[in-house]
Amino acid sequence: MTFKPAAWPRKLRSQSWFGGTEKDNIYYRAWMKNQGFPPDLFDGRPVIGILNTWSELTPCNAHLNDLAQRVKHGIYEAGGFPVEVPVFSTSESAFRPTAMMFRNLASMAVEEQMRGLPMDGCVLMVGCDKTTPSLLMAAASTDLPSIILTGGPMLNGYYKNERVGSGTHLWKFSEAVKAGTMTKEEFLEAEGSMSRSPGSCNTMGTASTMASMAEALGMALSGNAAIPAVDSRRRVMAQLTGRRIVQMVKDDLKPSDVLKKQAFENAIRTNAAIGGSTNAVIHLLAIAGRVGVDLTLDDWDRCGRDVPTIVNLMPSGKYLMEEFFYAGGLPVVIKRLGEAGLLHKDALTVSGETMWDQVKDVVNHNPDVILPTDKALTRSGGVVVLKGNLAPRGAVLKPSAATPALMVHRGRAVVFEDIDDYKAKINDETLDIDETCVMVLKNCGPKGYPGMAEVGNMGLPPKILRKGITDMVRISDARMSGTAYGTVCLHTSPEAAAGGPLAVVQNGDFIELDVPNRRLHLDISDAELAARLARWKPSHVQADSGYLWLHQQNVLGADTGADLGFLRGCRGAAVGKDSH
Ligand code: FES
Repeated sequence: MTFKPAAWPRKLRSQSWFGGTEKDNIYYRAWMKNQGFPPDLFDGRPVIGILNTWSELTPCNAHLNDLAQRVKHGIYEAGGFPVEVPVFSTSESAFRPTAMMFRNLASMAVEEQMRGLPMDGCVLMVGCDKTTPSLLMAAASTDLPSIILTGGPMLNGYYKNERVGSGTHLWKFSEAVKAGTMTKEEFLEAEGSMSRSPGSCNTMGTASTMASMAEALGMALSGNAAIPAVDSRRRVMAQLTGRRIVQMVKDDLKPSDVLKKQAFENAIRTNAAIGGSTNAVIHLLAIAGRVGVDLTLDDWDRCGRDVPTIVNLMPSGKYLMEEFFYAGGLPVVIKRLGEAGLLHKDALTVSGETMWDQVKDVVNHNPDVILPTDKALTRSGGVVVLKGNLAPRGAVLKPSAATPALMVHRGRAVVFEDIDDYKAKINDETLDIDETCVMVLKNCGPKGYPGMAEVGNMGLPPKILRKGITDMVRISDARMSGTAYGTVCLHTSPEAAAGGPLAVVQNGDFIELDVPNRRLHLDISDAELAARLARWKPSHVQADSGYLWLHQQNVLGADTGADLGFLRGCRGAAVGKDSH
């Protein structure tokens, strides 16, 4: 893909604040000078916003202030003027009811900060799950030159000399406690071993997936995704990112130059190869919606169908991000896609180079971490998109995290009307359920929960876990943590709270899952389904004020990315009038 850099020097948008000798220009400069900035910083050089999602309540991003200093070094070195700007930080581990409810709010807030403040380009400093997509969505909406810098993953966790993966082992240990094979004391002891350094989750969960998506889209420098947070090379990456954004501003290299349909197709195939999180589906659909790329759920199935999962990381495999980095990281995977004819090699990246030029010479240093194709974890690793009368607009399933024997399954539905109903019943020893049943959870979608919580991999009943069974077919309109696993149909659309067929599934109905044929079917007649839908009334809580109201009124379905409808599309970064 050819990109023609803009002429330099030229007048940048920040000069409408900082240039000139009018009263307003003096006003903007004078207040900035209370920080001791020398006059030449306002001379028309690129002003770079370091948009920092640092927060002590977003622990995965709590080290970003340190990295931001390295970004500043790079910006100064390249002749730019760095300004650090704290932005809305969506903490996956702490935000209630779920961080996903605030992804769109964060993107809206950041978008307005980008538009309303004197910045010519931005470094998007992110890490935890929702911080990466929310800032990418904002950048796509404003189309200001932007580059992603993730904080990097935590070091490997170890408990009793076994690797412990963020999240993945939380599910495993909690099921072991329920099954009686692990004590509470051991569970508590294991807790500290899971997170032993700064950084984001060390599995191929959503944070690592989204870092990989940013790199595969071409929005981060090559190699960014896997460098551990505490590795000195993460600091080097920060400094290089700072240098690069200055040149991007001079060249006027914008998100819309990088985020083409082929970039999204590269990312979808990369997601399949890494065994990435199903959350990437929602986030990439939302980012595409902001930049005006026509990406659909069907693109996920079409592009991912023939891509083997070759990255042997938890939750699908056995290693963690630290080992992925030592093996060569994401560039090795992207090179493999290119060699297999599964990459748009000429896709432009923020480096100014094509994707292929960046990866063509890299080497795989550990074929047990990045596997040969004939040893792939799953031959067809892409996210599967299921359709049928139970999911007319689609549902997704991650084959690499599922049980092969359950890929074709017919079972009796055991229905939970919402998450509270599930919590009230799941530990009841008299619950009428066995391992052949299909667990159905309603009202956990974008409107219903609200915010679409990561509860789709609902835990199994203790009486089934005690038999040594660890997986059953589960269906919901919820999401699933990228660190989780199981034969789990997620994002069922339309969601129950919007009157989708999921809303009218009853205990005792039979459901058919047929992954090879991409089918999710409620085994009742069309007439019966229509009659039930005609009688359906919403049962989820409807907010009447605040952001919750705004969200419920405007959120779109998971099948299009669960963005707020009025935020879709690229609105640009046009500056409003001076107000002084
Ligand atoms: Fe923040 Fe996993 S909870 S990256």
